Amino acid sequence: MAYTIRKARLEDRSRISELIAESARGLSREHYDDAQIEAAIITVFGVDTDLIEDGTYFVAEDGDTLAGCGGWSRRKTLFGGDQFAVRDTSYLEPLIEAAKIRAFFVHPDHARKGIAQAILEECEREAAAHGFRAIELMATLPGVKFYQACGYTEQGTYDLELIDSVKLELVPMRKQLQGS
Ligand SMILES: CC(C)(COP(=O)(O)OP(=O)(O)OC[C@H]1O[C@@H](n2cnc3c(N)ncnc32)[C@H](O)[C@@H]1OP(=O)(O)O)[C@@H](O)C(=O)NCCC(=O)NCCS
Repeated sequence: MAYTIRKARLEDRSRISELIAESARGLSREHYDDAQIEAAIITVFGVDTDLIEDGTYFVAEDGDTLAGCGGWSRRKTLFGGDQFAVRDTSYLEPLIEAAKIRAFFVHPDHARKGIAQAILEECEREAAAHGFRAIELMATLPGVKFYQACGYTEQGTYDLELIDSVKLELVPMRKQLQGS
Protein backbone atom coordinates (compact mmCIF):
# COMPACT_ATOMS: atom_id res chain seq x y z
CA MET A 1 0.00 0.00 0.00
CA ALA A 2 1.56 3.30 -1.10
CA TYR A 3 -0.89 5.41 0.89
CA THR A 4 -1.03 6.27 4.58
CA ILE A 5 -4.10 6.87 6.72
CA ARG A 6 -4.20 9.56 9.39
CA LYS A 7 -6.75 11.58 11.33
CA ALA A 8 -8.02 14.58 9.40
CA ARG A 9 -7.06 18.04 10.66
CA LEU A 10 -9.07 21.27 10.43
CA GLU A 11 -6.59 22.69 7.91
CA ASP A 12 -7.37 19.76 5.57
CA ARG A 13 -10.96 20.92 5.08
CA SER A 14 -10.61 22.74 1.76
CA ARG A 15 -8.62 19.86 0.24
CA ILE A 16 -11.20 17.37 1.52
CA SER A 17 -13.98 19.43 -0.08
CA GLU A 18 -12.15 19.34 -3.42
CA LEU A 19 -11.64 15.58 -3.08
CA ILE A 20 -15.33 15.04 -2.32
CA ALA A 21 -16.41 16.99 -5.41
CA GLU A 22 -13.93 15.15 -7.67
CA SER A 23 -14.96 11.79 -6.23
CA ALA A 24 -18.66 12.48 -6.69
CA ARG A 25 -18.17 13.76 -10.23
CA GLY A 26 -15.88 10.90 -11.23
CA LEU A 27 -17.43 7.89 -9.53
CA SER A 28 -21.20 8.54 -9.44
CA ARG A 29 -22.09 8.75 -13.11
CA GLU A 30 -23.40 5.22 -13.44
CA HIS A 31 -26.06 6.04 -10.84
CA TYR A 32 -26.75 9.79 -10.80
CA ASP A 33 -27.02 12.44 -13.51
CA ASP A 34 -25.15 15.76 -13.58
CA ALA A 35 -28.00 17.69 -11.95
CA GLN A 36 -28.13 15.26 -9.04
CA ILE A 37 -24.35 15.24 -8.57
CA GLU A 38 -23.96 19.02 -8.68
CA ALA A 39 -26.95 19.58 -6.39
CA ALA A 40 -25.60 17.01 -3.93
CA ILE A 41 -22.17 18.70 -3.88
CA ILE A 42 -23.83 22.03 -3.06
CA THR A 43 -26.37 20.84 -0.51
CA VAL A 44 -25.25 17.65 1.22
CA PHE A 45 -21.88 16.13 0.28
CA GLY A 46 -19.14 17.77 2.31
CA VAL A 47 -16.95 17.97 5.36
CA ASP A 48 -18.60 17.69 8.78
CA THR A 49 -16.30 19.68 11.05
CA ASP A 50 -17.74 17.95 14.15
CA LEU A 51 -16.09 14.70 13.05
CA ILE A 52 -12.68 16.30 12.56
CA GLU A 53 -12.95 17.93 15.99
CA ASP A 54 -14.04 14.59 17.51
CA GLY A 55 -10.99 12.89 15.95
CA THR A 56 -13.19 10.42 14.06
CA TYR A 57 -12.51 11.49 10.46
CA PHE A 58 -9.62 10.12 8.40
CA VAL A 59 -7.78 10.95 5.23
CA ALA A 60 -5.68 8.63 3.08
CA GLU A 61 -2.66 10.22 1.46
CA ASP A 62 -0.50 9.06 -1.42
CA GLY A 63 2.54 11.27 -0.86
CA ASP A 64 1.16 14.83 -0.87
CA THR A 65 -2.04 13.82 -2.66
CA LEU A 66 -5.30 13.31 -0.83
CA ALA A 67 -6.58 9.98 -2.15
CA GLY A 68 -9.57 9.30 0.09
CA CYS A 69 -11.49 10.28 3.20
CA GLY A 70 -14.12 8.87 5.51
CA GLY A 71 -15.02 8.57 9.13
CA TRP A 72 -17.37 7.43 11.84
CA SER A 73 -19.37 9.31 14.42
CA ARG A 74 -20.68 8.94 17.94
CA ARG A 75 -23.19 11.73 17.22
CA LYS A 76 -26.73 11.30 15.90
CA THR A 77 -26.35 13.12 12.56
CA LEU A 78 -26.51 10.36 9.91
CA PHE A 79 -25.25 12.25 6.87
CA GLY A 80 -24.46 15.66 5.45
CA GLY A 81 -21.58 18.12 5.50
CA ASP A 82 -21.47 21.40 7.44
CA GLN A 83 -23.81 23.01 4.88
CA PHE A 84 -26.59 20.43 5.41
CA ALA A 85 -29.22 21.85 7.74
CA VAL A 86 -30.74 18.64 9.11
CA ARG A 87 -28.46 17.58 11.94
CA ASP A 88 -28.56 16.38 15.51
CA THR A 89 -25.15 16.70 17.10
CA SER A 90 -26.12 15.06 20.39
CA TYR A 91 -24.19 11.94 21.36
CA LEU A 92 -25.40 8.38 20.78
CA GLU A 93 -25.80 5.80 23.53
CA PRO A 94 -23.37 3.03 22.46
CA LEU A 95 -25.18 0.07 24.01
CA ILE A 96 -28.53 0.79 22.38
CA GLU A 97 -27.81 3.01 19.36
CA ALA A 98 -25.70 2.44 16.26
CA ALA A 99 -22.56 4.43 15.52
CA LYS A 100 -22.59 6.19 12.15
CA ILE A 101 -20.31 5.78 9.16
CA ARG A 102 -19.86 9.13 7.45
CA ALA A 103 -18.74 10.69 4.17
CA PHE A 104 -16.54 8.14 2.42
CA PHE A 105 -15.07 9.49 -0.80
CA VAL A 106 -12.14 8.20 -2.83
CA HIS A 107 -10.47 10.07 -5.69
CA PRO A 108 -11.23 8.42 -9.06
CA ASP A 109 -7.49 7.95 -9.71
CA HIS A 110 -7.25 5.89 -6.51
CA ALA A 111 -10.46 3.83 -6.71
CA ARG A 112 -10.44 0.06 -6.13
CA LYS A 113 -7.13 0.05 -4.28
CA GLY A 114 -8.64 -0.85 -0.93
CA ILE A 115 -8.44 2.69 0.49
CA ALA A 116 -12.10 2.97 1.56
CA GLN A 117 -12.03 -0.52 3.03
CA ALA A 118 -8.92 0.27 5.07
CA ILE A 119 -10.52 3.46 6.46
CA LEU A 120 -13.78 1.62 7.15
CA GLU A 121 -12.01 -1.11 9.12
CA GLU A 122 -10.29 1.54 11.23
CA CYS A 123 -13.68 3.22 11.87
CA GLU A 124 -15.27 -0.09 12.89
CA ARG A 125 -12.38 -0.84 15.26
CA GLU A 126 -12.71 2.56 16.92
CA ALA A 127 -16.51 2.37 17.18
CA ALA A 128 -16.29 -1.08 18.78
CA ALA A 129 -13.63 0.19 21.19
CA HIS A 130 -16.09 2.94 22.22
CA GLY A 131 -18.65 0.25 23.10
CA PHE A 132 -20.85 0.40 20.00
CA ARG A 133 -22.45 -2.90 18.96
CA ALA A 134 -23.85 -1.81 15.61
CA ILE A 135 -23.01 0.69 12.94
CA GLU A 136 -25.21 2.29 10.28
CA LEU A 137 -24.99 4.71 7.41
CA MET A 138 -26.85 6.32 4.55
CA ALA A 139 -25.22 5.05 1.36
CA THR A 140 -25.23 6.71 -2.01
CA LEU A 141 -26.08 4.30 -4.83
CA PRO A 142 -22.39 4.16 -5.93
CA GLY A 143 -21.50 3.18 -2.37
CA VAL A 144 -23.90 0.24 -1.97
CA LYS A 145 -21.70 -2.48 -3.51
CA PHE A 146 -18.72 -1.31 -1.48
CA TYR A 147 -20.62 -1.47 1.80
CA GLN A 148 -22.17 -4.83 0.87
CA ALA A 149 -18.66 -6.17 0.27
CA CYS A 150 -17.78 -4.98 3.78
CA GLY A 151 -20.70 -6.81 5.43
CA TYR A 152 -23.42 -4.12 5.51
CA THR A 153 -27.02 -4.94 4.57
CA GLU A 154 -29.59 -2.70 2.95
CA GLN A 155 -32.45 -1.44 5.12
CA GLY A 156 -34.79 -0.09 2.43
CA THR A 157 -34.44 3.06 0.34
CA TYR A 158 -34.64 6.79 0.99
CA ASP A 159 -35.23 9.69 -1.41
CA LEU A 160 -33.51 12.90 -0.34
CA GLU A 161 -35.01 16.08 -1.83
CA LEU A 162 -32.10 18.32 -2.91
CA ILE A 163 -33.00 21.48 -4.83
CA ASP A 164 -35.57 22.37 -7.53
CA SER A 165 -37.24 18.93 -7.29
CA VAL A 166 -33.92 17.16 -7.80
CA LYS A 167 -33.90 14.02 -5.68
CA LEU A 168 -31.07 11.74 -4.63
CA GLU A 169 -31.84 8.06 -4.07
CA LEU A 170 -30.03 6.79 -1.00
CA VAL A 171 -29.89 3.45 0.82
CA PRO A 172 -29.80 3.06 4.61
CA MET A 173 -27.40 0.23 5.55
CA ARG A 174 -26.40 -1.45 8.80
CA LYS A 175 -23.90 -3.91 10.26
CA GLN A 176 -23.65 -5.66 13.61
CA LEU A 177 -20.14 -5.27 14.99
CA GLN A 178 -18.12 -8.40 15.84
CA GLY A 179 -18.60 -9.78 19.31
CA SER A 180 -21.96 -8.05 19.85
C1 LIG B 1 -17.67 3.88 -2.65
C2 LIG B 1 -16.18 4.25 -2.62
C3 LIG B 1 -15.92 5.09 -1.35
C4 LIG B 1 -15.34 2.96 -2.59
O1 LIG B 1 -13.96 3.32 -2.46
P1 LIG B 1 -12.74 2.37 -2.94
O2 LIG B 1 -11.51 2.79 -2.21
O3 LIG B 1 -12.66 2.37 -4.42
O4 LIG B 1 -13.23 0.94 -2.43
P2 LIG B 1 -12.26 -0.30 -2.08
O5 LIG B 1 -11.15 -0.35 -3.06
O6 LIG B 1 -11.90 -0.24 -0.63
O7 LIG B 1 -13.27 -1.51 -2.35
C5 LIG B 1 -13.37 -2.64 -1.48
C6 LIG B 1 -14.32 -3.62 -2.12
O8 LIG B 1 -15.65 -3.03 -2.21
C7 LIG B 1 -16.26 -3.45 -3.45
N1 LIG B 1 -16.40 -2.29 -4.34
C8 LIG B 1 -15.88 -1.05 -4.19
N2 LIG B 1 -16.27 -0.24 -5.20
C9 LIG B 1 -17.05 -0.99 -6.01
C10 LIG B 1 -17.73 -0.73 -7.22
N3 LIG B 1 -17.70 0.49 -7.81
N4 LIG B 1 -18.45 -1.73 -7.79
C11 LIG B 1 -18.47 -2.96 -7.24
N5 LIG B 1 -17.85 -3.28 -6.07
C12 LIG B 1 -17.16 -2.29 -5.46
C13 LIG B 1 -15.32 -4.48 -4.07
O9 LIG B 1 -15.68 -5.76 -3.53
C14 LIG B 1 -13.99 -4.02 -3.53
O10 LIG B 1 -13.01 -5.05 -3.53
P3 LIG B 1 -12.21 -5.41 -4.91
O11 LIG B 1 -11.75 -4.11 -5.51
O12 LIG B 1 -11.08 -6.28 -4.43
O13 LIG B 1 -13.20 -6.12 -5.78
C15 LIG B 1 -15.78 5.04 -3.91
O14 LIG B 1 -16.23 4.33 -5.04
C16 LIG B 1 -16.35 6.44 -3.96
O15 LIG B 1 -15.73 7.37 -3.43
N6 LIG B 1 -17.52 6.65 -4.63
C17 LIG B 1 -18.07 7.97 -4.89
C18 LIG B 1 -18.48 8.67 -3.63
C19 LIG B 1 -19.54 7.93 -2.89
O16 LIG B 1 -20.63 7.70 -3.37
N7 LIG B 1 -19.20 7.54 -1.64
C20 LIG B 1 -20.08 6.79 -0.78
C21 LIG B 1 -20.73 7.73 0.14
S1 LIG B 1 -21.92 6.83 1.15
